[in-house]
Amino acid sequence: MPSCIALIVAAGSGERFGSELPKQYLSLAGQPLVRRAIEAFRGHPAVSGVLVVYQPAHRALYDQATQGLGLPEPVPGGATRQDSGRLGLERLAAWPGGAPDYVLIHDAARPLVDAETISRVVAALEHAPAAIAAVQVIDTLKKWVDGFTAGTVDRSCLWRAQTPQGFRFSAILEAHRRLAGAGLTDDAAVAEAAGLPVALVPGSPDNIKVTTPIDLERAHRLLGGGVPDIRTGLGFDVHRFAPGDFVTLCGVRVPHSQSLEGHSDADVALHALTDALLGAISAGDIGSHFPPSDPQWRGVDSTVFLRHAVALVRARGGVIGHVDVTLICERPKVGPHRAAMVERLAEVLEVEPGRVSVKATTTEKLGFTGREEGIAAQAIATVVLLCP
Ligand code: CTP
Ligand code: MG
Repeated sequence: MPSCIALIVAAGSGERFGSELPKQYLSLAGQPLVRRAIEAFRGHPAVSGVLVVYQPAHRALYDQATQGLGLPEPVPGGATRQDSGRLGLERLAAWPGGAPDYVLIHDAARPLVDAETISRVVAALEHAPAAIAAVQVIDTLKKWVDGFTAGTVDRSCLWRAQTPQGFRFSAILEAHRRLAGAGLTDDAAVAEAAGLPVALVPGSPDNIKVTTPIDLERAHRLLGGGVPDIRTGLGFDVHRFAPGDFVTLCGVRVPHSQSLEGHSDADVALHALTDALLGAISAGDIGSHFPPSDPQWRGVDSTVFLRHAVALVRARGGVIGHVDVTLICERPKVGPHRAAMVERLAEVLEVEPGRVSVKATTTEKLGFTGREEGIAAQAIATVVLLCP
């Protein structure tokens, strides 16, 4: 049997995921992503060893995530995915006992890789110098030009590349050396550029790459992971009317016979919603993050506050499941602006509009809102914590 080492690349920074903890060290049903990826290969009969490419700045996280696995000293990665691959291969070139016959390069960010996919890639290396797991594109593909379709693309020969990507070792080492710095995003592209034939074998639709928090939620579901940690937060705010000719509600300018008074733009709905999100992650309230006494918030666009709360939710490993805002006022009428408000909130929250609700009610002319002295808003937010 040919010797085969799995090289797990885990030296990225997870910019798009946006969590404080780099995504490869986040927990998925109790185990860090990188550990799940490692275990998939360690337990495979065709794989003789596993080596991880990591970021030295993450050393403590790496040690914790790989505790008890008895792995060889990890290799410091590079600034790009391509560099990290090459640096891992160079370490294997100097491997005690000789370089392996085969190498399987795999993203730490694909924790759900299955044994059958690994087997198919290894088997293909018997008749090709390179082989990658991939899945056929099933959606009809459209070309986009300025918001309109500019034709349908033939998808019959289009596949989405996954990892593992397997190679005969000396062929890929030479290709990587020759193409260093070419800015290629996977190792198959390095092989292709070097003229190596790359076989495609079926991967698995579940072998997803965790790029954003939504992917981690999906991975959790695919694992049949237990009940997610769902949090809710409630927000409430009031602003009084003052002379003027418009109000800002849910980030939308609404013409009115009065304005709202406040130290910022007085967007009562965004303030309630910001508090709801902060409440869901137990992170204080809007006043503790943006004190009204601080002159820098005077007249500021309240989406600044909401974006800050969204960033805190992400940093906590959370995903916004849903938000529901209720405006309480006799006037202005909210109905004609509701669609614009939903769209604006979805944009600021970075969620699809189906996860946003805006409602309005009067208080039958009762109380301060009934007397048109001001506007009140309530909001409730549901946040799913993926890494409790
Ligand atoms: N990777 C790496 N070295 C790099 C960049 C990426 O080893 N310089 C690894 C990542 O850790 C990940 C895999 O390559 O396991 C796939 O990359 P990607 O999903 O893009 O992860 P990141 O680069 O960390 O994320 P982002 O692009 O959002 O910053
Ligand atoms: Mg990347």
